[in-house]
Amino acid sequence: MAALQITLLGCGKMGSAMLRGWLADPTLDANFTIIEPYHEHLGWADAHSRVVIYSDCQTAMASGAPVSSMIVLAVKPQMMDEAIAAIGSLRDADTAFLTIAAGISSGWLQARLGAGAPILRAMPNTPAAIGKGVTALYADHAAADLVPLATQLLGTIGAVVAIDDESLMDAVTAVSGSGPAYVFLLAEAMTAAGIAAGLPAALATQLAEATVSGAGALIEAADESPAVLRENVTSKGGTTAAALAVLMDENGLTPLIEQAVKAAKARAVALGA
Ligand SMILES: NC(=O)c1ccc[n+]([C@@H]2O[C@H](COP(=O)([O-])OP(=O)(O)OC[C@H]3O[C@@H](n4cnc5c(N)ncnc54)[C@H](OP(=O)(O)O)[C@@H]3O)[C@@H](O)[C@H]2O)c1
Repeated sequence: MAALQITLLGCGKMGSAMLRGWLADPTLDANFTIIEPYHEHLGWADAHSRVVIYSDCQTAMASGAPVSSMIVLAVKPQMMDEAIAAIGSLRDADTAFLTIAAGISSGWLQARLGAGAPILRAMPNTPAAIGKGVTALYADHAAADLVPLATQLLGTIGAVVAIDDESLMDAVTAVSGSGPAYVFLLAEAMTAAGIAAGLPAALATQLAEATVSGAGALIEAADESPAVLRENVTSKGGTTAAALAVLMDENGLTPLIEQAVKAAKARAVALGA
C-alpha cells in the first residue's frame, strides 16, 4: 500500500510533539508536509527524508506538495479560519481533517470545508508535550473508519479516549483540557502551606512538587483506585486523617472542584457558541 500523505497545519508546541512521535513510530508509513510560518526551530524535522516544511500553503502548492489523505489542524483557534482558507489544492474531496483546536466544532469546520468532509475532533492537554497527555477523540459519521489512524497519530502524545457524542467535548475540556492547571495549583497551594507551616521555601517547593508528581505516577502504576490509595495511607486518628477531615468536609475539595469544572464547562460552551 502507498505511504500515507499527511499535512500538519501549524507546528508549534502540540504540532512538534506529535511530529516527533510520528517520525519515531516505525508502524506509521507516511510522508509529511509541514506548514509552519516560523520553522527555524524545526531543523530536527527538516533533516528527515519523509518531511518537507513550508512557510505557508501557497508556497507548498507552488512547490508541488501533494494532496494529503489527512490534514491535521494544530493552529490556535483564532488562526483557524485563515489557516483553512489557504489549504487549496493540498486537499481533495476525500481528504480527512483532524483538529486539536480547543472549541472548534465539527459543524464549524464543515461549514468551511464542505458538508462531506470527514472530520475528527480531538481535545488533548498540556502533558502531551512529554507524551503524557490524555486526548478525547470524536469522529463524525464520514470519519468513523479513520478512528484507528487518528488514535495512532494522537497516541504519540499520550492516551486516547474515543467519545461518540461531540457535546461531551465541553465537559472533557473542563476536566482534562483545563485539568492540568488544577493540579499545578494544588502543587502551588501545598508549597505555600508548607512555608506557612515553617519550611524554608526551597524545601517546601521540592516536597510539594515531588509529592504531586509521585502521587500521579502512583495512580498510573497502581491497580487500586485513587480512593483506595487514599484509604491505604490514612490511619485512624493519624496526621493524614486530620488533614482529610478538613479537605473532605462538606465545604471541602470535592464541591470546590465540582464548581470549578462547572465554571470551565460553562465557559467552553460560551466560547463554542
Ligand atoms: N497547548 C495545549 O495544552 C493545548 C491543549 C489542548 C488543545 N490545544 C490546541 O492545540 C492547538 C495548538 O496549540 P499549541 O499550544 O501547539 O500552539 P502554538 O505553539 O502557538 O502552535 C501553533 C502554531 O501554528 C502556527 N500558525 C499560525 N498560523 C498559521 C497558519 N495560517 N498556517 C500554518 N501555521 C500557522 C503558529 O505560528 P506563529 O507562532 O507564527 O503564529 C504556531 O507555531 C491550539 O488550537 C490549541 O487550542 C493545545
